[in-house]
Amino acid sequence: MRCECGKRPLDIVMSHILKLMIEEGIVGGDATLRRNSPVPLSGFYYSSLNPQFIGRNTLILLYPDFTKTVASRLINEVPEVKCVLKGTPQSTIGQYDKDSDIIHFEILEGDDEQINVMRTLLQDKIILVKKQSKHHIEVAMTCEEKLIRLHNYLDNNNIRNGVAVDGMCGLGALGIYLKKYGFEKVIFNDINPEMIEALKVNLEINNISDGFEIYNQSFEELNIDKVDLCVIDAFPGVNLDEIIKKAEIIADNVFII
Ligand SMILES: C[S@@+](CC[C@H](N)C(=O)[O-])C[C@H]1O[C@@H](n2cnc3c(N)ncnc32)[C@H](O)[C@@H]1O
Repeated sequence: MRCECGKRPLDIVMSHILKLMIEEGIVGGDATLRRNSPVPLSGFYYSSLNPQFIGRNTLILLYPDFTKTVASRLINEVPEVKCVLKGTPQSTIGQYDKDSDIIHFEILEGDDEQINVMRTLLQDKIILVKKQSKHHIEVAMTCEEKLIRLHNYLDNNNIRNGVAVDGMCGLGALGIYLKKYGFEKVIFNDINPEMIEALKVNLEINNISDGFEIYNQSFEELNIDKVDLCVIDAFPGVNLDEIIKKAEIIADNVFII
C-alpha cells in the first residue's frame, strides 16, 4: 500500500502498529483500530484537508499501556514512527494553573519534537515547534480555530494595532499572530518556564525579532502598564474569575478564548 512517493496511508501504518502491540501483549488478539489504536500525533491530526499519507519518521504515538519493549519495536520496525510516548490524551500536560505542578508525558523512545505549519487568514503562515511530551493536546478547539476566532474578534471590534498581552502564551501562537496582524508590541507571559523556552524558538522561527517582551510568571501577579488588548487562553476548566478581573484592569479590550 506504499505510494510511489514512499508514504503509506494512515490506516495501513496504524494496522502495522496495532499488529506489534498485539504481538507484545499490550492489547488482546481481538483488538481493533477503532477501539485500541494509540493516539497518532502528527500534522494530519490538525487538518483534515491534508492527505492522510504518512511519511517516514513523522508519527508520534501516545498510549497509556506502552512499554519500553513495544516502544523499541515500534521505532525499529515501523518506519513512520519517530517517537513513542506513554500517557493518556485526556491528561492536562504542562502547568494547569498557578497552584499545579508541571506534568509531562513519558518519552519511551525517539524524538518528541513536532512542527506544525498553520494556515491563517493573513498572508503569513504560523509555524509552531513543540516538544510533544511537554505539551497539552488540543482537541476541542485546535490552534488554527483559535487564530480564526482571534482574527474575527479583532476585525469585528476594529482593533488593529497598539500594545497587546498574550497572558498565558504557551507556545506563543496568539501573540505571534497579533504581531503579524499589526500590533506594535506584544507582551508574552506564561507561568511555565518550559513554555517560555518554546516561545523563544517560535518567535525566531516566525521571524519576530523585535517589538516584544517576555515574562515568566503567574498572570495574576503580572505587573505591567495598561495595554490595548489582553488575550487569555487558559486550559479548559480553569477558574478564570481572578484572571478575568486582572485582565480587565490591565487592558482596554479583553479576549478570552
Ligand atoms: C491552553 S495553554 C495556552 C496555549 C497557547 N495559546 C499556545 O499557543 O500554545 C494555557 C497556558 O496557560 C499557562 N498557565 C497556566 N496557569 C497560568 C497562570 N496562572 N499564569 C500564566 N500562565 C498560566 C500554561 O503554562 C499554558 O501554557
